[in-house]
Amino acid sequence: MRRKLAAGNWKMNGTGRNLVEIETLARDHAESVVDLILCPPATLIERAARVAGPVLIGGQDCHAEASGAHTGDISALQLRDAGARAVILGHSERREAHEEDSAMVREKARAAHAENLTAIICVGETLAQREAQNTLDIIGAQLSLSVPDSATGHNTVIAYEPIWAIGTGKVPSTDQIGEVHDFIRSRLERRFGAGVGRSVRLLYGGSVKPDNAAQIFAVSNVDGALVGGASLRAADFSPIVAALEATA
Ligand code: PGA
Repeated sequence: MRRKLAAGNWKMNGTGRNLVEIETLARDHAESVVDLILCPPATLIERAARVAGPVLIGGQDCHAEASGAHTGDISALQLRDAGARAVILGHSERREAHEEDSAMVREKARAAHAENLTAIICVGETLAQREAQNTLDIIGAQLSLSVPDSATGHNTVIAYEPIWAIGTGKVPSTDQIGEVHDFIRSRLERRFGAGVGRSVRLLYGGSVKPDNAAQIFAVSNVDGALVGGASLRAADFSPIVAALEATA
């Protein structure tokens, strides 16, 4: 059985005074039956890791190289050194604003694996791609190019995040989510074999809130969520985690 996973992505939000949210989350879910990962901005990773208890701390991106002349970038080695155990890669905001393509995401994932970080690799279609009925083609291509051969159920998580659902309050129907998650599962099984293919956890992300979480978690092959806005406050994230715990 895959262990359920709730992951939070703070994006470019939060300073030291928000660490109390992580402490609260850690306290509320001290004996959780699901895994928890919180990805604050890089400036908070080291401090967050000190107060996170059972909550694992992750980065939001890493460079593919371990070191070098890359001003402003952070390597997987440095994330690990700061206390991170995971990293989000290929988020649509980075694919768009930083022109990251799937080949770059794959190299970053390889670097993450080399440092024993769990790579949370994001895939997702635009609204135009969905309306043109290209969703599965897009997801299939992103998946095959972004996921490195080194992927296992231990070091890799896939997050399906339709771009049009991120931060918009719009959520796909449960049928639409199920279709994509089943598709991702079958692609992973085909490429990596049933053992690894069935062990990789698949998260849904995009406007997950306390009031829609239970519905989303009931969908087949949804092993948890990647949560943006609703992960900023423990008061919002905690009920989402509780909904996931109720399915475990
Ligand atoms: P959201 O973001 O939950 O605020 O829609 C999700 C994400 O971008 O990971």
